Amino acid sequence: MSLVEIRGLSYRYPDGREALRGIDLTLNAGEKAALVGSNGAGKSTLLLHLNGVFTAAQGSITIAGLPLDRKNTGRVRALVGLVFQNPDDQLFSPHVDEDVAYGPTYQGLPRDVVAQRVAEALAAVGMGGYEKRSSYHLSGGEKKRIAIATVLSMRPEMLVFDEPTAGLDPRARRELIELLQRLPQTMLIATHDLDLARRLCPRMLILKQGTLSADGPTAQLLDNEPLLYENGLL
Ligand SMILES: Nc1ncnc2c1ncn2[C@@H]1O[C@H](COP(=O)(O)OP(=O)(O)O)[C@@H](O)[C@H]1O
Ligand SMILES: [Mg+2]
Repeated sequence: MSLVEIRGLSYRYPDGREALRGIDLTLNAGEKAALVGSNGAGKSTLLLHLNGVFTAAQGSITIAGLPLDRKNTGRVRALVGLVFQNPDDQLFSPHVDEDVAYGPTYQGLPRDVVAQRVAEALAAVGMGGYEKRSSYHLSGGEKKRIAIATVLSMRPEMLVFDEPTAGLDPRARRELIELLQRLPQTMLIATHDLDLARRLCPRMLILKQGTLSADGPTAQLLDNEPLLYENGLL
């Protein structure tokens, strides 16, 4: 069953720069796909379309059968959790539990349900006991986990990550990859970390100047040196 259907998606920033050109992409439920490509290829711009931060100026996006338009933005945000590259863009409350409670509270869930969601999300990222800590004082790896918990608390079908291992030390990086391997959600992961792609994502998508230039089994694409070279990945 397809969870994400993107058809003919193009996007131009207000200053006229064309960031996406005619993207067609289907992601199935349960799939984990890496989105790679050199700086400026359009990875972040594509991710920001998936939970309605940007709306498709041209083309269409359907998530779990819901067309992503203004009317459905709220529902789609609960279905697709977007984890920003920099956790400081995602964490703004004095305490960890308030950040993790934010999504379900905003959805209007009762307090006891919110509390249960917070406990469940923190447990899922191995951060039970951090409720009253200040995320400001946590390590990069811990912040990343809390940022993931802030979207897991909405029980999303899909997780979208922008360069999740950027800036993490080797152990935090390894632990993050292990965490992502354990989580059952459909994932689309924009990354320069080809080793992460190899370990975590059976499927790889390569973006080049706003177009999808390759889509196939990760191991196969990573073995294709000319392809990697052409796409600025080597
Ligand atoms: N806010 C913005 N205004 C204008 N152009 C932008 C903006 N953000 C990104 N771009 C441009 O859009 C293109 C794609 O950028 P981006 O999606 O950030 O690529 P990536 O994440 O793959 O590095 C680039 O040419 C970039 O310069
Ligand atoms: Mg980016």
